[in-house]
Amino acid sequence: MGKKIKLIWSELSVYIYITIGLIIYGTGVTLFMLPYEVTSGGVTGIASLIFFATGFEVQNSYLIINLFLLLAAVKILGWKFCVKTIYGVLFLTFYMWLLQRIVLDADGNLPRLVQDQTFMAVVLGAVFEGIGLGVCFSHDGSTGGTDIIAAIVHKYKDMSLGQVIMLCDCIIISSSYFVFVDKYGETVAWQKIVFGFVTFIIAGVTLDYSMNRTRQSVQFMIFSRNYRKIADKINTTGRGVTVLDGQGWYTKTERKVVVCLVRKREASQIFQMIKSVDPYCFVSMANVQGVYGEGFDQMKANIKKAKPTLVFATNNEHKLDEVRRMVGDKFEIRSLDDINCHMELPETSETLEGNALQKAQFVKRFYGFDCFADDTGLECTALGGEPGVHTARYASDSHDDEANINKLLANLEGKDDRSAQFRTSIALIFAGKTYTFEGIVKGSIAAKRQGDHGFGYDPVFIPDGYNQTFAQLGADVKNNISHRARAVKMLCDFLHNN
Ligand code: IMP
Repeated sequence: MGKKIKLIWSELSVYIYITIGLIIYGTGVTLFMLPYEVTSGGVTGIASLIFFATGFEVQNSYLIINLFLLLAAVKILGWKFCVKTIYGVLFLTFYMWLLQRIVLDADGNLPRLVQDQTFMAVVLGAVFEGIGLGVCFSHDGSTGGTDIIAAIVHKYKDMSLGQVIMLCDCIIISSSYFVFVDKYGETVAWQKIVFGFVTFIIAGVTLDYSMNRTRQSVQFMIFSRNYRKIADKINTTGRGVTVLDGQGWYTKTERKVVVCLVRKREASQIFQMIKSVDPYCFVSMANVQGVYGEGFDQMKANIKKAKPTLVFATNNEHKLDEVRRMVGDKFEIRSLDDINCHMELPETSETLEGNALQKAQFVKRFYGFDCFADDTGLECTALGGEPGVHTARYASDSHDDEANINKLLANLEGKDDRSAQFRTSIALIFAGKTYTFEGIVKGSIAAKRQGDHGFGYDPVFIPDGYNQTFAQLGADVKNNISHRARAVKMLCDFLHNN
C-alpha cells in the first residue's frame, strides 16, 4: 500500500512541476511578449503572429495547431510520448485564456507592465519562458508544438531535437517580418525580428541554465583516516561510493581516498556527514560536466550495435561471396586474410567432417576468433564416392581445377551412371562449443564443360531438376540450392537462434 501511494505521489508531483513550469511560461508569453508584439518561436510564436495579424486569440490558434500536431504524434510516436504533451497543450491553452481574462484592461488590451520599454519586456519574457520550459522539460513535460515536430523529425532523420527546434524557431521568428512590415513599415519590422532573436537566445540560455541547475552534479574526493565511517554514512543516502588506494607522498604512508558523485543539491548533506565523522579531514568538491549511470543521467550517444564477427576459414572469394550473401548483414564474416592468417591450414583427415573441424580448431587456437570452416567433396557413384575428400587435389597436389575436371571426365568416360553429389561439411566453433552442419546437392556429371560462372567442378555438375550446369545457372540459382548453401542455411538458422 505504502509503495502504491509513493508511486502515485511521485507521478502527481511530476504533473505539479509541469504545471508550475507551464504557468511560468504562459505568464512570460502573456504579460511580456504579447503586449509588446514580439514573437519568440514555437507554436506560441506562430499563434502570436496570427494574433498580431488578425486579432484571433493566441490560445485558440495554439490549440488548433497543436491538435493537428498531436494527431500526427499519436500516429507516429505512440500514446506514451503524448500523454504529458496533451496535458501541457490543454493546460497552457486554459491558463493563457484565464490570465488574459484577468489582466485585460477596459478596452480589451493587454497591459504593458514595463511601459514602453520593449527591450526590458523582451528580457523578462525570455527569462520567464526559459525557466518555465526548463522546469517543464526537466520533468519530461512539453508544450507540444515544435517539440512534436522535433520528435517526429528525430525519428526519421539524424538531427537532434535541439537542432530541429532551433530551425523551426528561426523560421518562425524570421517570418514575423511579413506580419509587421505591412502594419508598421520596414524599420519596426526589423526591430521586431531582432527582439525575437534576442528572446530566442536569452530563453535558450535560461532554459539550459535552469535544466542544468537541477542536473548539476559534483564530485567529492575525501581524504580521511576515518574513511570507512564516512563511506558507510554516504552509502546510507543511497549514493554509491568508491574507495581508491593512494599514498601520502610526504609521509609515504598508504591513504584511502573516498570518491563520490552526487547532485549539487545533496552536497550540503554530504558535508554534514563528513564533518560529523571527521571535522579536520581534507575534502575537495568539483563541478562535473555530466554524470551518467545509475541514479544520474542516461548517456545520449547512439551506438551502432556492433555486428558479431565470425571468421570463415577460407580466402576463396567465390565462397566468401556466397556465404556473405546468405548470412546477410547480421554477422560480419571475415576471411583468413582479414585476420592476417596467411598460413596453410591443416587438412589431413580422411573425412570431410574431420578436415572442417581441423581448420576451425586451428583458427580458434592460434587467432582466438569464433569461426567456421568447410570442406566439400564431390562424390560420384560410379567411382565409389571418389574424388570425395580428395576433390581439391584430385589430379595433382597443386589444386588445379582444369586438371581435376579432365581427370574426372576421363574416369567417367563410358560409365552409364553419372550420378554424383556435392557434400559440404561445416564445423563451427561458437561460444566455446563445436557444431557441425551438412549440406548435400544431388546431380550428375555432364559429358563436357558448359558455362563460365562459378569455380571448381561447376562447369560439369548438373543439379537434379535442372538441365544446365552450375556454371550455366549462375550464382543466384546456385546460391539457393548448392550443397554449401544448404549447409550454410543450417549454420545461419543456428546462429540466428542462438
Ligand atoms: P573445399 O573443401 O570447399 O575447398 O572444396 C574442395 C574442392 O571441391 C574445391 O577445390 C573445388 O574444386 C570443389 N568444390 C567445392 N565447392 C564447389 C562448388 O560449389 N562448385 C564446384 N566445385 C566445388
